[in-house]
Amino acid sequence: MNSTPLQATLIVDRDFVLGPVDSKIFGSFIEHLGRAVYTGVFEPGHPSADSDGFRGDVLDLIRELNVSIVRYPGGNFVSGFNWEDSIGPQGGRPRRLDLAWMSTESNQFGLNEFMTWVRKAGIEPMMALNLGTRGPSEARDLIEYCNHPGGTRWSDLRRTHGFSEAHRIKYWCLGNEMDGPWQIGHKTASEYGRIACETAKILKWVDPSVSLVASGSSGHAMNTFGTWELEVLHHTLEHVDFISLHMYNGNVMDDLTHYLPLSDEMDDFIRETVSLCDAAAAKQKSRKKIMLSFDEWNAWYHDQESLKWLRGEKSSLTQAKWDEAPPLLEDHYNMADALLVGSMLITLLNNADRVKIACLAQLVNVIAPIMTRPGGPAWRQTIFYPFLHGSRFGRGVSLRPVIRSPLFDTRHRQGSPYLTASAIHHPDKNELVIFAVNRSVDQSLQLTGDLRSLEADSVIEWLSLSHSDTKAINGPENPAQVIPVSRTEARLETGRLSALLNPLSWNVIRLKTSK
Ligand code: AHR
Repeated sequence: MNSTPLQATLIVDRDFVLGPVDSKIFGSFIEHLGRAVYTGVFEPGHPSADSDGFRGDVLDLIRELNVSIVRYPGGNFVSGFNWEDSIGPQGGRPRRLDLAWMSTESNQFGLNEFMTWVRKAGIEPMMALNLGTRGPSEARDLIEYCNHPGGTRWSDLRRTHGFSEAHRIKYWCLGNEMDGPWQIGHKTASEYGRIACETAKILKWVDPSVSLVASGSSGHAMNTFGTWELEVLHHTLEHVDFISLHMYNGNVMDDLTHYLPLSDEMDDFIRETVSLCDAAAAKQKSRKKIMLSFDEWNAWYHDQESLKWLRGEKSSLTQAKWDEAPPLLEDHYNMADALLVGSMLITLLNNADRVKIACLAQLVNVIAPIMTRPGGPAWRQTIFYPFLHGSRFGRGVSLRPVIRSPLFDTRHRQGSPYLTASAIHHPDKNELVIFAVNRSVDQSLQLTGDLRSLEADSVIEWLSLSHSDTKAINGPENPAQVIPVSRTEARLETGRLSALLNPLSWNVIRLKTSK
């Protein structure tokens, strides 16, 4: 530990407005994968289950996170999914092979269970369409089933299933990761662009109020990144509202100086995608501004055994191929992962002018902030906390921060600032919230907040998450190993904030302002 603190300054001004934070950036994702649905959100017979079989303990944690929107039912799963299998009386639903995750899908939780669940949870649904094995015709049937009031084959079928009111699903994803060779029904950019365009037209003819997300790049490192966006938008620009981005990061080299700045790469990915969207519009002489849906993001690397099992290699997992709801991708997140997730959240907030939807992938059990045991407890993983804080305190106006911080080099990039931060103004309640991560592994960081015209009066609260062991995790036996603590030593002198941030810490500083 180096005892000399780093010195960094954060300059924010109420006039440096980037844009309002869309509450949909505090979204998440539930896929039919592993135990996300079965024994995750849905477990009839669990002591906390309600009459629909939804786990009450999980619902409580999701409500605590105040998740705004949930993408469903995949993911890779959706590209082989027949939505009609998942409706009607549960006893009559077919069991199906899920080729994405080598499992058997029982369809006991389907479209209407999901809609009942989101309504109970107070969450906006985001429906992904199968453009892998299926196309515009099945999408037309699905939206007629979901959004048309009645008097037609599919809408009346919905009514016979007990839903006299249309589901009115506003957000639709046109396929999932269609650029990825692993995807069922993978397509070239022009094949996908054409099918996405025709599907988009049909969806908007049935319901003009929908918002559509074209499938963008499934990772920044994809060889097709850039050409994919330009070609897809060449076909779809005037028919869609969003393009998607996905990013998962892992501390695979066990090196935090490399791992934590991956949030800066997320920033590059966002900025480059914005440029591609604007270039596509310019080329088509259009004024359309395509927004970004970062609808899968997280840390993902711990459960390598699942990945081996999925590749058909020898692994320690004991389940057989085609089991139902096998325990897959159950990453147990540590303190360092909470810092990465917090840093990625800061990146999303600092791009609030163009990122209008974001989904932490996923929500329960599968690379998730919430874990459960079948028949047993549910608990908060370390990454639960930065998401909770963002969702609770980040729904305001994002100010463009100016950061002066010492820099460090990683294996792949030069000049990453030790301090990463965002500033959210809540003019309605005279509050400024600073989210800040000190990425130094061994030095505290003396943060000076130059708050300019905000005229901060007092510190309301300082929450901090850090731990002497960056590999510490929460589990059912020790659910409070990594939890935020309140700190009191932040000072305000003539409107300047001063706070000493621990090495490797996530911080939320809430200030009362006079405006
Ligand atoms: O979230 C897990 C998987 O990651 C999703 O199914 C897929 O879209 C992505 O590759």
